[in-house]
Amino acid sequence: RAKVTLPQLQAMKERGDKIAMVTAYDYSAALLADRAGMDMILVGDSLGMVVLGYSSTVPVTMEEMIHHTKAVMRANPAALVVADLPFLSYQTGIKDAVYNAGRLVKEGGADAVKLEGGRAMAPVVRAIVDAGIPVMGHLGLTPQSAVQLGGYRVQGREQEAADRIAADAEALAEAGVFSLVLECVPVELARRITAALKVPTIGIGAGPHCDGQVLVFHDLLGLFDRFRPKFVKCYVNLSEIIVNALASYREEVRQGRFPDEGHSFQ
Ligand code: KIV
Ligand code: NA
Repeated sequence: RAKVTLPQLQAMKERGDKIAMVTAYDYSAALLADRAGMDMILVGDSLGMVVLGYSSTVPVTMEEMIHHTKAVMRANPAALVVADLPFLSYQTGIKDAVYNAGRLVKEGGADAVKLEGGRAMAPVVRAIVDAGIPVMGHLGLTPQSAVQLGGYRVQGREQEAADRIAADAEALAEAGVFSLVLECVPVELARRITAALKVPTIGIGAGPHCDGQVLVFHDLLGLFDRFRPKFVKCYVNLSEIIVNALASYREEVRQGRFPDEGHSFQ
């Protein structure tokens, strides 16, 4: 499979072909996602919650993001790989933002970066894009500022809030994002923003009218059930399958039935 390009993603929106994206945080998951034909892979800072055991995405560091981005890139995916800028790597000024975006690309090997926030982030987006790095935006429920948003809840239900998010989307598009994640917003707001923007929108908990969808790897595979938001569709319950397999192994070891002749050297 040839590498997915930005013009191809743009053309998919124009043709009405839906874009599929999933997160991955390591080499073997990236191989699987790519084999499944994903258009984009996100090395999300959700890795803090589903892989590293933090209670939010806030503690995730640049070093952790680079470490996991490198692992994903070793799979040499055809999917376009976007790496999240973690909290405090871009909110402290344009210079920090360009430097840290550059590290995700230069050291991590990412194809593009993603950051959270609206019009206040437009100058930062423009500076990273001017440095030659493609930027994806992220609006609606932005987990790095979840406390300020009143928790992990739907954003943009009231008209005023919806208008603000729609204006933020326009500002980010104007600043040069190649795509925009809409997380946890009402169906109608996502439809409105998707119709207004030239660049593709990628929804998560944003209904069916976005140009594409993203889900967290561990959520869609049923590998992580500490939280299970309404928008998550669990395509398989791997937790159950894995626990059953591990329990069978434990039982066979205890009973002396593993290893048997077939798994031993004479
Ligand atoms: O970190 C992440 O997984 C994300 C997606 C939920 C969009 O930002
Ligand atoms: Na994220």
